[in-house]
Amino acid sequence: MMDANGMSGRHWTEVVEALEEIAPDYDRVNQLITFGLADRWRREVAAYAEPDDVVLEVGSGPGSFARHLISKSIYCIEPSGELANYSKELLDQNRIQLVRAVGEKIPMADQSVDKVFCVFSFRDFFDKGEGISEIHRVLKAGGEVRIVDVAKPPPGPLAKLLDMHVKHIVPRLARIAVNPASYHRLKRDPYMTFVDTYKAFGFTSIYENLLSQQGFSEVKTEFLKMKGATMTRGKKPWTSTS
Ligand SMILES: C[S@@+](CC[C@H](N)C(=O)[O-])C[C@H]1O[C@@H](n2cnc3c(N)ncnc32)[C@H](O)[C@@H]1O
Repeated sequence: MMDANGMSGRHWTEVVEALEEIAPDYDRVNQLITFGLADRWRREVAAYAEPDDVVLEVGSGPGSFARHLISKSIYCIEPSGELANYSKELLDQNRIQLVRAVGEKIPMADQSVDKVFCVFSFRDFFDKGEGISEIHRVLKAGGEVRIVDVAKPPPGPLAKLLDMHVKHIVPRLARIAVNPASYHRLKRDPYMTFVDTYKAFGFTSIYENLLSQQGFSEVKTEFLKMKGATMTRGKKPWTSTS
């Protein structure tokens, strides 16, 4: 099972294994398949974190987003020890603490974080509802979450273009850029797993609804540069007791 709300344990393991296989080529391939936009999007989103914010990135992988954060106190949650190991070289260990965990069970105290970011990782959560509930729990009142992923617009010309890009162009470009050993070790092309998660991922309206149901306010989605990615945000409201 893999749908807009999550995926089975077997599928999730396959997704993480595919990411581990492409880890050495991850940043290079991402830049190639997004025509250089991936890092521009990450920098644009990282600018929402202030130096004094306590920041949490969920699904930090090889550190591709966290390296752009300027905050003094950053927690990076990543379920794969192998991917987290790649990030150790990139990230400033004085400001960034790597934590091995999943977004559905965040090992942090209630109301301990100012900003949460999920950058190209929310699509891989095995239980999207549980993940949003955990993010809400660890955020301080007034805190914000930003979920960034490859754009999945409702049916129309842009949706057709992106669909064609993800299903047909990405696997071909990746085949040129990824170390051929990755294609021998795994039973299938790791980028076909990316196609599966993109197909199963829902429209942003589904995740906006999940955020609103969980109690987030000011929920909205915007396109990032060139409309290849979206950012959905929500704010944990202040309450009379907070
Ligand atoms: C495509 S990578 C994104 C890495 C990085 N954030 C970036 O900007 O490229 C997705 C990451 O999410 C992680 N991930 C998968 N399932 C997760 C879950 N349930 N909770 C937290 N992270 C998860 C994967 O292991 C992987 O490192």
